[in-house]
Amino acid sequence: MDYQTILVERRARVGLITLNRPKALNALNDALIDELGAALNGFEHDDDIGAIVITGSEKAFAAGADISAMADWDYIDVYKSDFITRNWERIKSCRKPIIAAVAGFALGGGCELAMMCDIIIAADTARFGQPEVKLGILPGAGGTQRLPRAIGKAKAMDLCLTARMMDALEAERAGLVSRVVPAERLLDEALAAADTIASYSLPVVMMIKESVNRAYESSLAEGLLFERRVFHAAFSLADKREGMSAFLEKRAARFTHR
Ligand code: HXC
Repeated sequence: MDYQTILVERRARVGLITLNRPKALNALNDALIDELGAALNGFEHDDDIGAIVITGSEKAFAAGADISAMADWDYIDVYKSDFITRNWERIKSCRKPIIAAVAGFALGGGCELAMMCDIIIAADTARFGQPEVKLGILPGAGGTQRLPRAIGKAKAMDLCLTARMMDALEAERAGLVSRVVPAERLLDEALAAADTIASYSLPVVMMIKESVNRAYESSLAEGLLFERRVFHAAFSLADKREGMSAFLEKRAARFTHR
């Protein structure tokens, strides 16, 4: 497919998506979110892809929704088109793990996009924020909901109400990002992490993603029950047999993703 707003590549078993509207700091418009959804769809249905990385440029992961696109819109325009969020769910519904590799600005919808990924790896240049309040709007793609779950109410309120940006180290301390790496190492580190994940049994990796996400959608008792059921189901996999045999035979496992 010929994409206009993103670059899509495969690196062995890893799918790499680079947001590519450099002149607008990767501002998110409907075209970009639609293309992102299409690229994720392609990787989701490709048995040879085990993990996905979404990244931006050195200066910006994404500086938020495209303000020039929305400036003249009224309620009825965004309501009818379900602006941005109409294809947003495709990111959440992707069953393969997605790593956000974030350098520079991840603001507004950019921060929300990163938070929809499963792991955020940040360059030391990364800056996160929900500055919508400055535009006379509020976060609209999960910022008021995912941010407090990720970093707690105190910091989430601070960021959403003051519009201040949080640097990479603060984001790591707060629990938003899993690792901070030097900017020049960002893509390599993200691809290496994705490559590691993609080397494991794909069905197991998908089960882990689904189970961890359950922790956000259910009570502890329901989540534990879900985990138990999925744990038992994993014993039906050829990869379970291979993983345990390989350990006992002191050799590397050769997973067939079945
Ligand atoms: C459209 C944007 C943009 C955006 C930057 N640009 N952010 N265009 N939408 N969100 C454009 C600028 O207009 C400029 O274009 C070029 O990118 C470079 O940006 P500068 O401002 O010149 O760069 P700099 O001075 O380094 O400042 C970087 C910045 C600033 C701090 C990130 O650009 C900024 O504050 N951007 C807006 C951030 C924001 O408010 N995000 C939230 C959006 S609302 P020209 O043509 O002048 O070179 C949102 C809601 C989500 O995300 C809801 C989801 C449903």
